[in-house]
Amino acid sequence: MSKQKKSERLEQLHQLKEKSLHGGGEKRIEDQHNKGKLTARERLEVLLDRNSFQEVDALVEHRSYDFGLEKQKILGDGVVTGTGTIDGRLVFVFSQDFTVFGGSLSEAHAEKICKIMDMAMKVGAPVIGLNDSGGARIQEGVVSLGGYADIFLRNTLASGVIPQISAIMGPCAGGAVYSPAITDFTLMVKNTSYMFVTGPNVVKTVTHEDVTFEELGGAITHATKSGVAHFACENEIECLQAIRKLVGFLPSNNLDDAPIFESKDDPNRRDEKLNSLIPENPNKPYDMKEVIGLIVDDGDFFEVHELYAQNIIVGFARLNGSTIGIVANQPSALAGVLDNDSSMKGARFVRFCDAFNIPLVVFEDVPGFLPGTEQEWRGIIKNGAKLLYAFCEATVPKVTIITRKAYGGAYDVMNSKHIRGDFNFAWPTAEIAVMGPQGAVEIIFKKDIEKAEDKAKALADKVEEYRQKFANPYIAAARGYLDDVIEPSDTRTRLIRSLEILRNKVDTNPKKKHGNIPL
Ligand code: HXC
Repeated sequence: MSKQKKSERLEQLHQLKEKSLHGGGEKRIEDQHNKGKLTARERLEVLLDRNSFQEVDALVEHRSYDFGLEKQKILGDGVVTGTGTIDGRLVFVFSQDFTVFGGSLSEAHAEKICKIMDMAMKVGAPVIGLNDSGGARIQEGVVSLGGYADIFLRNTLASGVIPQISAIMGPCAGGAVYSPAITDFTLMVKNTSYMFVTGPNVVKTVTHEDVTFEELGGAITHATKSGVAHFACENEIECLQAIRKLVGFLPSNNLDDAPIFESKDDPNRRDEKLNSLIPENPNKPYDMKEVIGLIVDDGDFFEVHELYAQNIIVGFARLNGSTIGIVANQPSALAGVLDNDSSMKGARFVRFCDAFNIPLVVFEDVPGFLPGTEQEWRGIIKNGAKLLYAFCEATVPKVTIITRKAYGGAYDVMNSKHIRGDFNFAWPTAEIAVMGPQGAVEIIFKKDIEKAEDKAKALADKVEEYRQKFANPYIAAARGYLDDVIEPSDTRTRLIRSLEILRNKVDTNPKKKHGNIPL
């Protein structure tokens, strides 16, 4: 080949590559910026380590001939796909480009996403999807719907094998919402993203409700009301940085260990503050996040689902550099009671950690399950069972610290010894019983109290008697249901030593196709 021919070919390549960088053109990019949104490529620059992005399928075009689409072919067809690194670790990414047909999903667009998902499964690396799309490419009809189904299937097969993370950075409507919903974590951006199965117009027609996009399916709605979003971020940069941080806690796949971050935080650090953190009055709340912060490496706790079902806390932290998943009751929200939403939130998190070999640390202060018709009619029986089931089936290292109350069924549920808790510790302030003193006494001493001349005193005396007898950790410790009662300030050290002992733990469940968690 002549020198001239060679340089023409290189020129053609450079032109094509250059063209592929501009998506739907300058005007649409400007519109995107005016909405407070970054472009698909700008997002990848923030998400990935500098210069690590390696694109595939930049030259893919759609194959549609209807509605004049044959005259509008844009390289890449509305999604930028490839690989990159986060803190040096490989991730697969797709980033939908709203400037090209509104980021809508065509057959070719879906194939690009499926290609990187298939590759991610083969090499065992997370998939991160940045969603910004008008949904199925309307001009392509059922072919586009098929493309979605191809993605849903891959999301499902990849579940529990590689971490899957979805960021919603624009519209995500109709059936398109089901891909993020199957993935492990969904992040949304306040004011510029929304998710719903049907939009406000359809809602108005069908139910006559007037609702805005934001109220129906904005970040705050899904982070607080539905629980669909695990994170509601202030802006896109914060969202992309949160993904980087999240990935840092996770293994690349279900056979890998999570990365270890060397910490300067002394594993033997004692925190005397923990010894006086539980209030004298057992009905007074305290903030379990303060407990967590005093124990984990550098006080760094990455909370998941922060705004949803706040009576339970879930999230990631590190102990001596290794990732742990924390599940904790929060006495300062609804007294830390278990209800429908908190049970589901906890169960999903426990199952994620178990799937990816992340040890579970439970901080327990739970007065029981929340009574009432609202709870019963929404299915607290089956939803509470989800959390119970999740802890029962989990075979990762599991350590529990009972800080105060462990009452009723909730005692069993919150990773008790009986359901394969590996190390179960309690603080001296623990109260472990079938129910709290007041309720218990009113039932078992009902007649005695009725007969007493001074009913209030009789009640108070019996409550005190019950408290002395049962509201402590020593009966459970005597039976071996607790491995030890520990000084709160030693908690960090005891947890680190326990997890070290459990590092090579092997436990299995009976061989089966899959269990039948009460969904
Ligand atoms: C093809 C689409 C498109 C779509 C948007 N566009 N959605 N093209 N298929 N689904 C194009 C527009 O024609 C326009 O092209 C450009 O993208 C930007 O759209 P605008 O409407 O100008 O933007 P905006 O005002 O910001 O509104 C965004 C939007 C709206 C709210 C997303 O476009 C919209 O309602 N789109 C349709 C959404 C929808 O009903 N999708 C199908 C959902 S059902 P130009 O050339 O003018 O720039 C679904 C089923 C999935 O997805 C099933 C899975 C099982």
